[in-house]
Amino acid sequence: MNEETQAANTITPFEWIGGEARVQALTDRFYDLMDLEPAYTELRAAHGPELDSARQKLFWFLCGWLGGPSYYTDQFGHPRLRARHMPFSIGIKERDQWVACMDQAMGETGVPDDLRARLRESFMGTADWMRNRGV
Ligand code: HEM
Repeated sequence: MNEETQAANTITPFEWIGGEARVQALTDRFYDLMDLEPAYTELRAAHGPELDSARQKLFWFLCGWLGGPSYYTDQFGHPRLRARHMPFSIGIKERDQWVACMDQAMGETGVPDDLRARLRESFMGTADWMRNRGV
């Protein structure tokens, strides 16, 4: 068993990623990239003028989703992500840009390769399920 497989079997993804400070760094990089990179223009356009509230909420959500503190559900209850995203138009382009932006952020903030690949797959499943537009 290699080190990464062993890590996957004994600790939570939250611990594996390096705890709260790493989740914060990942979330910050994600929204900074969304703001900066032309490749994520449509994704950025689906958001309002400021990203502060989204940044804060995604950080809280990810902590719990990765197996760490339940900041998001403590404050807002069940995430109901599909329902909460209904006001935003989400098609293939937005889904793919979200996942690509998150994957780039994971790469740039040093998420271990094995964990990054697993999370990417999970994010893709969730983002695809949130599509509310055909194309
Ligand atoms: C796996 C994929 C995704 C996850 C885990 C995720 C997660 C979240 C979370 C936790 C929130 C905060 C919800 C709340 O309590 O209000 C949020 C808000 C939002 N998400 Fe997503 N999201 C995903 C994909 C997407 C996609 C594909 C879009 C494309 C349009 C999108 C657009 C937004 C917008 C516009 C907001 C509102 C931001 C604000 O409060 O200003 N999300 N998302």
